[in-house]
Amino acid sequence: QEKYIPFVPLKRPRRAWPDRELKVPPIWCSVDLRDGNQALIDPMNVEEKLELFHTLVDIGVKEIEVGFPSASETEYEFIRTLIEGGHIPDDVTIQVLVQAREHLIRKTFEAIDGAKHVIFHFYNSTSTLQRKVVFHTDVAGVKQIAVDAARLIRTLSQPALDAGMDLRYEYSPESFMGTEMDAAVEICQAVIEALHATPERKVILNLPTTVENCMPNYFADEIEYFIEALPSRDCAVISLHPHNDRGEGVATAELGQLAGAERVEATLFGNGERTGNVDMVTLALNLYTQGVDPKLDFSDINRIRDVYERVTKMKIGERQPYVGELVFTAFSGSHQDAINKGSRYMQESGSEYWEVPYLPIDPADVGRQYEPIIRINSQSGKGGAAFVMQHNFGFDLPKNMHPEFGHIVQLETDRVGKELPAQRVYELFREEYIDAD
Ligand code: KIV
Ligand code: ZN
Repeated sequence: QEKYIPFVPLKRPRRAWPDRELKVPPIWCSVDLRDGNQALIDPMNVEEKLELFHTLVDIGVKEIEVGFPSASETEYEFIRTLIEGGHIPDDVTIQVLVQAREHLIRKTFEAIDGAKHVIFHFYNSTSTLQRKVVFHTDVAGVKQIAVDAARLIRTLSQPALDAGMDLRYEYSPESFMGTEMDAAVEICQAVIEALHATPERKVILNLPTTVENCMPNYFADEIEYFIEALPSRDCAVISLHPHNDRGEGVATAELGQLAGAERVEATLFGNGERTGNVDMVTLALNLYTQGVDPKLDFSDINRIRDVYERVTKMKIGERQPYVGELVFTAFSGSHQDAINKGSRYMQESGSEYWEVPYLPIDPADVGRQYEPIIRINSQSGKGGAAFVMQHNFGFDLPKNMHPEFGHIVQLETDRVGKELPAQRVYELFREEYIDAD
């Protein structure tokens, strides 16, 4: 007998999403301060959260889930500090998360008192598995939990709305990916009705993978099916909340958008529960390299990395897309040679496009440099050494010198058995061609 229950894909003979293109960025919502924070060994303190909040604002994120105020006093106090300390710019909406439970909902309303723009985000789990092993209930049972919460939230909203708060609602059927689609539609439609949502006052329906347990194309089929089947689709903003358990969070978010989702909840560098939430930086820069303005500013990615590493006390991997230390580095000789030729082509042709092989993005666009691109080790060829001499030291070696000098550098890397710093390449050049004269 098999140990894992296989995922049963929907039958979607006329799926439209594979023929679409990503032409606009999603509405971004950062969940760094909530999903990201709850997954840290040492959760952030108030100062660290404030620093990250301001960094997200600087990047241009307009919707920021700032916490789970009913979960702890620290969470509650942070939200009060944000509101009372005047930290929230007028064009930024804070989002607060709460389970669909009465006393927690009441506490959450206390926490947002006085805020200008708020998304009140409530959730309960709807998946087949959670219903069976955790809640011991059926679809009607989880639907009732959601509807009761929605009605209470609508009632408790009235004083805040009367006082002029721009208050919107978000509902997440937690583990949407593992929920039968007809059940998810039925529950979300009931929530739309209980909240009295209209096309002018839409509810955000956030469809989390929660635990990623199927392929991104199956998830896209789910999203497309859900959107087509939802009776009041015009009263909803469709949002995604991918996690990365199978390492496919980015693909899941991209295909989910092709399938019709308009909003994505994500974190910087993919922090979050277990393998993390989907990485906002990769999603945004993937759009950027396809000619779509993501409306987020990652032009100084090293600064963002530094803040992230300081406040989360986590390290970003060397191969993390766009930001990892090694991602703009080429060790192999043929790669170095091609980058060298591409850079020269860019200079000589004045091309308006980025046409450098092996570098999917101009490192300068994310505030990184050309200098560390070429590193010299035993895998490098003649082109790499010549490139370092030109870019680091301004020596344009004649072509017929490349093989000889490349050979000298290679002998040295073999001798020392590790990477040579650019300075050592220069010294070899001096020893061989300048001092020897
Ligand atoms: O992953 C998840 O399902 C969540 C919900 C609370 C939205 O974080
Ligand atoms: Zn999550």
